[in-house]
Amino acid sequence: MAVERTLILAKPDAVVRGLVGEILARFERRGYTIVGLKLMHVTDELAKRHYAEHEGKGFFQSLVDYITGSPVVAMVIEGEDAVEACRSSIGATNPIKAAPGSIRGDYGQTIGRNLVHGSDSPESAQREVAIFFRDDELFPRASILGDWVAAK
Ligand code: RTP
Ligand code: MG
Repeated sequence: MAVERTLILAKPDAVVRGLVGEILARFERRGYTIVGLKLMHVTDELAKRHYAEHEGKGFFQSLVDYITGSPVVAMVIEGEDAVEACRSSIGATNPIKAAPGSIRGDYGQTIGRNLVHGSDSPESAQREVAIFFRDDELFPRASILGDWVAAK
């Protein structure tokens, strides 16, 4: 196990539907720490950088339109194997195939409105965190948890 950071987005549909707290709570209750958090508008340029791997695919423009359509809540989650653990809490890309108990499995129906983004590897996480957050917007986990770490 390794302590990792991962980028999570509560996408526009999650914000509009009032599911941000629910999504945040899933990660918090698993014991992960929110080390960065903001409500923000994703510009066209930011969306295209973030989803560069999907450029040229049929769904690329609708993906960009979706993520830029209204504000998202961006967060950086830190903890043991955070990338894999958060992906499992999020569930499969297509909500119909996502396991009940996962965020997409519990709240989603369509692949084009699947509520959450989670980085898919530690390398992607590093790249994506740097796109969405400046260094001074992120808190060392120890500075948040303090003595609580030792008490766990
Ligand atoms: P995400 O990056 O948002 O966490 O989602 P993911 O890893 O589970 O899926 P990915 O393959 O990276 O796709 C990014 C987003 O593009 C939309 N998508 N639409 N119509 C389609 O076939 C299709 N495939 C992907 C989804 O909104 C997906 O989350
Ligand atoms: Mg992805």
